[in-house]
Amino acid sequence: MSLFSSKSNESVEVLSKILADSYVLLMKTQSVHWNIEGNHFRDIHLMTEGHYENLMVAVDVIAERIRMVGGKSPATFAEFSKLASFTEEVEATNQTAMLEELLKAHEAIRTDIINGIKKLSESEDFGTIDVLNGRLSFHEKTIWMIKSTLVQK
Ligand SMILES: [Fe+2]
Repeated sequence: MSLFSSKSNESVEVLSKILADSYVLLMKTQSVHWNIEGNHFRDIHLMTEGHYENLMVAVDVIAERIRMVGGKSPATFAEFSKLASFTEEVEATNQTAMLEELLKAHEAIRTDIINGIKKLSESEDFGTIDVLNGRLSFHEKTIWMIKSTLVQK
């Protein structure tokens, strides 16, 4: 059952990549939320909670959009690891480096979303483009928040 009779494969492909990125980033964000230590513990712990809550809602919206446009949603860690542009592992051990790692992942997913929107710009799948635009806003806001937290004064 699909909203479109054809030409939705590109939408499925784009959405699957963003789903994988989002799921892996959800894990990465929780890893920082749980393991962060340092004088900014409270701020970063609370900020990352807001981010992973957003990502939890997002993965459901993206997966359901894949179904609407006629695809089968990836739903295993193996598939997500293969499709995502970064890993769930947090290698950093201090608070600044942990935030920098999260920042890099948000910048990577932002690039993937922009490339996805460009890919679909000739299609008439405005619903998917709308979902992607919503995700872009979240990641751009988050990039701003993390960068502002990283300013040393
Ligand atoms: Fe928590």
